[in-house]
This record gives sequence, C-alpha cells and structure tokens, in this order.
Amino acid sequence: MSSEPYEEIVRNWSPEERRQFPRERHSHFTEIDSTNQFLLERIRGGETSPFDLVTADFQTQGRGRRGDRWEAPAGRNLLFSLAIPLPKDPAHWTRLPLITAYHVGHAIESVLDDAQILQAKWPNDLLLDKRKLLGILVETSSQENAFAAVGVGINVNLRENELPPPLRKTATSLYEIFGCESSRWYLLSLILRNFLRDTSSVEMSFADAKCWFTERDFLLGKSLQIRSGNRWIDGVGSGIGEGGQLLLREATGKLLEIVSAEEIQGAYQPQGEG
Ligand code: BTN
Repeated sequence: MSSEPYEEIVRNWSPEERRQFPRERHSHFTEIDSTNQFLLERIRGGETSPFDLVTADFQTQGRGRRGDRWEAPAGRNLLFSLAIPLPKDPAHWTRLPLITAYHVGHAIESVLDDAQILQAKWPNDLLLDKRKLLGILVETSSQENAFAAVGVGINVNLRENELPPPLRKTATSLYEIFGCESSRWYLLSLILRNFLRDTSSVEMSFADAKCWFTERDFLLGKSLQIRSGNRWIDGVGSGIGEGGQLLLREATGKLLEIVSAEEIQGAYQPQGEG
C-alpha cells in the first residue's frame, strides 16, 4: 500500500475540503485483487467512514457488472471504490448508480470541450460518441450495513490498441479523445469534490442527477428489447423513474419500471428503427 497519490488528489483543495477528506480515508494499492472487494470487506467489518476511498494502479480480479471481468493495463486507468452512505429507504438504493454517474460525468465534462457532452446509458454507463468511457459497479454487502461500495473504472490513458479487439469499436478513453495523457489523480480530485459537496445527504442530489441523466439519456425514445430475469420485454425507452428505474413504454401504452436488466438490445440503432 502507498499513500502517494493522496497529495496529488488534494493539491488544489481548500483546508476545509482537506479536513473533510483526511489522508486516512484513502488507501492506494499498486496491485490488488479488486478495490470493490477490499472496500466491501471493510464495510462488512464495520470499519468504514463515509467516502472512504480505495484506488489501485492494477487489479488482478477487477469486477464488472453481471459477473464480467474488468481489465486494464497497470497505471493507465482510474480505478477506484468509494464508500457511499446508503439511502435510508431501500427503495432508493437503485438511485446510487445514477448519482454516481452524475458526479463522475459532471467532473469529466468539465475537462472536455464545451461542445462534447457525455451520453448516459441506463443504468450506469457513460459514453462518448456512443463508445463506453467508464463503468460503474454498485455493490452492497449482504449484511445490515450502512454503506455501498461504489466502484468506478474510467478509461483515462488507455490506448485503443490495448483494448481487446472486440471492444475497440465500442469503448474509448480520454487519451483517444485528447491525443495526450491526463492525470488520473486530478480527475479523481474533481470527482471526489462533487461527492463531498453531497455529504449532507446523498439522497438530496438525486433530483439533480435525474435531470442531468435525462438530458443525456442514450435510451430515450429508442425501441428496446430488455432481458430482465429470464424474460424479454419490448418497449420504448421513456425516461428515468423516481427510484432510478428505467421507464419503458410497452406497445399497449403501459409504462413499466425496470429495476435491473441483464441485457439491453436496440440501444445502438437509430431512433425509431428499434
Ligand atoms: C461495468 O461493468 O461497466 C462496471 C465496471 C466497474 C469497474 C470498477 S474498476 C474499480 C472497481 N473495482 C472493481 O473490481 N470494479 C470496479
């Protein structure tokens, strides 16, 4: 473990911001199995404070959604997990991926050209030019705990030729957009600031997150086929619900609230063509 990136993260912060996020809240690893796994174990052990942060240069067993692996060459990408206080109402836990997308996306857009805005693909992917720039994995412990481990992997300095060939047309990185390297820790400092501003109540920021997400909603108005559990549901993407669900309008006119989906088809086709 090393604490070196901490100084880079807080370099431009005010004393008040540093007080909110002292050095002991941050654990950095040059190599770890998974930052989410490490944080979940701490949460289970009751050793967590709000916004405890775990970062790594390299993960040997990085986890993606649906049990997928999340791989990145050492030192290229921003890989972190943050302990977020769970909303009191469990029906609001599904808001966390959107709140995370909002805070992370807001920070990324602040370093993009004004003309570039991200697309938000429910539940928790952010895309640029229809290519995935980052993934979010929210995990909660099976026990009664007050925190979620919110894991984020952002393709920062990854080169296109370092992506597995099947992902080269569907993923991108800040390096590919800017044509030069960016500081992972500067980007993380912007993201953390957004979360720390929210300490009074993570729940409060959902209205802003929903608005931000809706303006960038990649699924809005598209004819989609969604696999939820073992059934496929057809409908048109119709926005985001109050719990962070995907709203899907069936051909009958009925509006469904989709809480989780294993697969979404139709998202990449031009609007109106299903
Ligand atoms: C996805 O499938 O899109 C979610 C990917 C989440 C990857 C991040 S990298 C840091 C954190 N630790 C993990 O093991 N996974 C998340």
